[in-house]
Amino acid sequence: MIRIPILTIRTAEALLRLKDGNAVVSLDLGRSKTNVLVENGHFFIGNQRVPLSSLKKIKEKSCYIIENGKIRKLAVFSHETNLYYKLFPTRDWPTVTLSSTPMHRFTFVSPKKDTESKIREISPVRGIVLDTCCGLGYTAIMAAEKADKVMTFERDEGVIEIAAFNPYSQELFSDKGIGLVRGDVNEGIRKLGNGHFDRIIHDPPTFRYSPELYSKQFHEQLFRVLKKNGILYHYCPSPHITRGKLLYPRIIRQLKEAGFDDVKYHEVSSGIRAIKG
Ligand SMILES: C[S@@+](CC[C@H](N)C(=O)[O-])C[C@H]1O[C@@H](n2cnc3c(N)ncnc32)[C@H](O)[C@@H]1O
Repeated sequence: MIRIPILTIRTAEALLRLKDGNAVVSLDLGRSKTNVLVENGHFFIGNQRVPLSSLKKIKEKSCYIIENGKIRKLAVFSHETNLYYKLFPTRDWPTVTLSSTPMHRFTFVSPKKDTESKIREISPVRGIVLDTCCGLGYTAIMAAEKADKVMTFERDEGVIEIAAFNPYSQELFSDKGIGLVRGDVNEGIRKLGNGHFDRIIHDPPTFRYSPELYSKQFHEQLFRVLKKNGILYHYCPSPHITRGKLLYPRIIRQLKEAGFDDVKYHEVSSGIRAIKG
């Protein structure tokens, strides 16, 4: 059942094409199809009656919900972080943008493929998994399909608020195998025991947003909480250039210094796989 109907430009175009009758559209970003009645210049979803003309304001790079018969962009602004959070539709799963910075690759690789490539790096997935940066929960949800337990951190309430609307994030809140910690992983990781995790996915935002998650001290913590023979995957954003410098050679060096073995950058996943030997 669709929890909260979501409209995109595709839904809008399908409804606007129809004068009267039933349109079969997706109201959950492609997860399922629903019949929507169009009649006398309005369309009907649940108990809401919305003028068709209001669909004209729908833009390609946003998702929309219906509130009191009106269409509203699925976005929030936080005075605390001074960031604007928006669910951004792509060809498959949506991404979330933080003041225009997307949290997933979506141009050449879709968010779904992006997630699959990250999970492949820690395969075989098993045991207890640490997913350092929850975001929309894609890596946590996919890891939880095979793992015994996934622990994931998210420090930003704005991101969690957007995830709560996203049809592809729902397992984050419903899957008992996923423990979402609302807090800073850089602080939280220090309270975790040595050798606790079989696998770690470290998927930080760009360096600008969270420089602490690229620090030597954080890499030492990742090494400490990973079990012997455990696997780490470390995403490297802006794979080619960050402030004119390649980012991944520095991360490789730091991971080796922290004690990791077999540290290699993989272009497909745009990240580094390393083992605690
Ligand atoms: C690239 S996204 C992660 C995407 C995620 N793996 C997914 O599958 O949707 C990075 C996320 O980390 C969060 N974040 C940044 N710094 C953090 C920190 N120190 N502790 C916890 N979360 C953090 C950001 O708010 C953002 O949602």
